[in-house]
Amino acid sequence: MPVTYDSECKAFLLTTPGMTYAMEVTPLGYLRSTHWGGVVNRAQDLAPRLLSLKETLAWNDKYDHAFSDSYNSTWQENAMLFEKQNEEIAPLSAYVFCEPGIKALFHDGTRDVVLKYHSHVIDKQENTETLAITLRDVYYPLKIELYYRIYDRLDIVDRWTVAVNEGKEDILLESLQSAAWHVPQGKEHRLSHMSGKWSGEYQIEHVWLTQSKVVLDNRSGISNHFATPWFALDYKGQAQEESGKVWFGALHWSGNWKIVAEVTQYNQTRVTGGINDFDSTWKLAANESFTTPIFTGGYSNAGFGKASRTLHDYVRDHLSPKPFASETQLPIVYNCWGVFEFDINIEQQIKLAKVAADIGCEVFMVDDGWFSTRDDDTSGLGDWWCSPTKFPNGLKPLIDAVKSYGMTFGLWVEPEMVNERSELFAKHPEWTIYFPARERTTGRNQLVLNFGRQDVQDWAIDWLDRLLTENDIDWLKWDMNRYFTEPGWPDMPGDRQREIWIRYVHGLYKVFAEVRRKHPHVKISNCASGGGRVEFGLAKYTDRQSLSDNGDGLDFQKIWWGFTQFMPPRLPGSYFNNAQANGINGRGVPFSYNLSKGFFGQMYVGSNFFKSDPEEIRQTTEAIVLYKKVRHIIAGGDMYRLVSPYENPLISVMYAAKDKNQALLLILTHSMQFYNLLPAIKLQGLDPDALYKVGDLGTYSGAGLMEKGLAFRYEADYDSRVIYIEKCG
Ligand code: DGJ
Repeated sequence: MPVTYDSECKAFLLTTPGMTYAMEVTPLGYLRSTHWGGVVNRAQDLAPRLLSLKETLAWNDKYDHAFSDSYNSTWQENAMLFEKQNEEIAPLSAYVFCEPGIKALFHDGTRDVVLKYHSHVIDKQENTETLAITLRDVYYPLKIELYYRIYDRLDIVDRWTVAVNEGKEDILLESLQSAAWHVPQGKEHRLSHMSGKWSGEYQIEHVWLTQSKVVLDNRSGISNHFATPWFALDYKGQAQEESGKVWFGALHWSGNWKIVAEVTQYNQTRVTGGINDFDSTWKLAANESFTTPIFTGGYSNAGFGKASRTLHDYVRDHLSPKPFASETQLPIVYNCWGVFEFDINIEQQIKLAKVAADIGCEVFMVDDGWFSTRDDDTSGLGDWWCSPTKFPNGLKPLIDAVKSYGMTFGLWVEPEMVNERSELFAKHPEWTIYFPARERTTGRNQLVLNFGRQDVQDWAIDWLDRLLTENDIDWLKWDMNRYFTEPGWPDMPGDRQREIWIRYVHGLYKVFAEVRRKHPHVKISNCASGGGRVEFGLAKYTDRQSLSDNGDGLDFQKIWWGFTQFMPPRLPGSYFNNAQANGINGRGVPFSYNLSKGFFGQMYVGSNFFKSDPEEIRQTTEAIVLYKKVRHIIAGGDMYRLVSPYENPLISVMYAAKDKNQALLLILTHSMQFYNLLPAIKLQGLDPDALYKVGDLGTYSGAGLMEKGLAFRYEADYDSRVIYIEKCG
């Protein structure tokens, strides 16, 4: 896992087991990308030049300033143009016509940044190496540090950028992107990304790039349901699920973000990404610095499947909070929101908890509706005390009951929100995001508290700390149920007004970090109207993830396919209940199908036990017993997406333990027609030379299962299979 610097070629090579990321300092001092792809060990192999090296260096001897008077010949222009091709982070300056990575306004009105290599440092730790390259503007006191971190076992590089104002005058940052990625030259790359909406998250889209720009972005304040900060590129669409080269990336940012994929006039495909510069600036005062979020990039030589597994391992091993990230006993959560919504009370909750415990659930989660006047969504947010009518003696009697049944206890909160009908809003109307002369637009009857404000952060940390200190709570479900509107911060000076988008996210991270620091044993489940804030920024602070508010059995298939492109299946709740039909599409599916769905991630039970018959309880209990036997494979194994719901009337996914001794095969089908015999499902990730017992279907070799596969006859509309596979020879 070395980071090396070749002083003769002035080249940096970052090499992981299957990937090299390389850059060079050009003769004029610019830093530019030379390779991102399979392993190349020699710097000499990575320096294709327009001019011969000798020619360029000779010219460079005579020419020591990019903006000297002699800068006028076509030859020099061409050289400079070439030198500024593929700059690692392209500032808006001469001959940069692509998406800029840095836009700055200096005190004298100059809006041009010229960055040249200054120095570098390599920091070697046990499992990581980090390269920091310092660039400096050739005239103004602006220092830019580019960071690159690689990991010993992953074909991943984390990149981020730091801007430092080393002068006395303010610098206005109009854009500071985390990274620009250059894939091998060629304009016919296919861009894969995700779009969506509430209850229809992570829908995969493909765009053929042409000489133009494709902008993926989000402007709603939170990373939202409409777009996911993830991309993948493959040349001419040649990559498949388990074959072909794929370049991919995911941003760690929970606010407005932007990822621009473009093809330049030289057929160079590049992707620039970071905090969205839309309606956003940052004043960098003397001696201040600004650090961008991380943009993780990776390379797979074995399709989208390997790309996903790389990101899954990355999240589990390097992002998710410890120690839960490595726990293999994924907890089975019970939460009755889907069937009772706000209509909850102490007696009912205790009864539900008893049944939940009897059937094997391990976390009893109380959702929205437990506090102040919260009988519906029109009031109560901001007033975080127990409802005197629903829980007259506080939460303690319920928590005691839950614990006596052997479960842990979780509680829903939505700290970033306030209802106008609340004591908090009456006291602090100035705490929301608003423009004084505009009506405040509500979403789900609520307003957004400005988490950029120090007083709001202190308030949130204080009540969350008290809640967790006074009650024996093991889990928080942290929800967020609207987007930003009227993004004003009247108390902020005019030239800092547009910092609100960024300051909000910094404040949010601070509150998360403080709560975790003060209560390290409390786990946090991330939710934003289902899957609204699913990205690596919050993954760092949260232990579990809501997948979607959509529990529909059919919609689930595509939602799952998209989610697992970048997020590990160990994180999301995989929900089922016993309602006759799902609320989103009014679709009913067999209960056995619902139970099978529970095996895809963290099993998440939401049934109304008051309507359960003994047979349903028996089936649920049986499913939970099996889940407990196999959950370590979901938690710590490798996931293979075997059959795509985009191409077939079914989804099939399998999990294989890293030691290849056990596996779990999952299939959900729909709409069988014409006596279709669907192709056999070919398994992955097994030992070809070993024998496996496949559920009660028989014993097969790993080679047979992977080469020939398993053929099933599926029935009618919603058929499903959950098959445990174990090595037996
Ligand atoms: C939206 C979430 O996605 C749901 O699971 C539930 O917690 C509701 N909010 C509660 O208001």
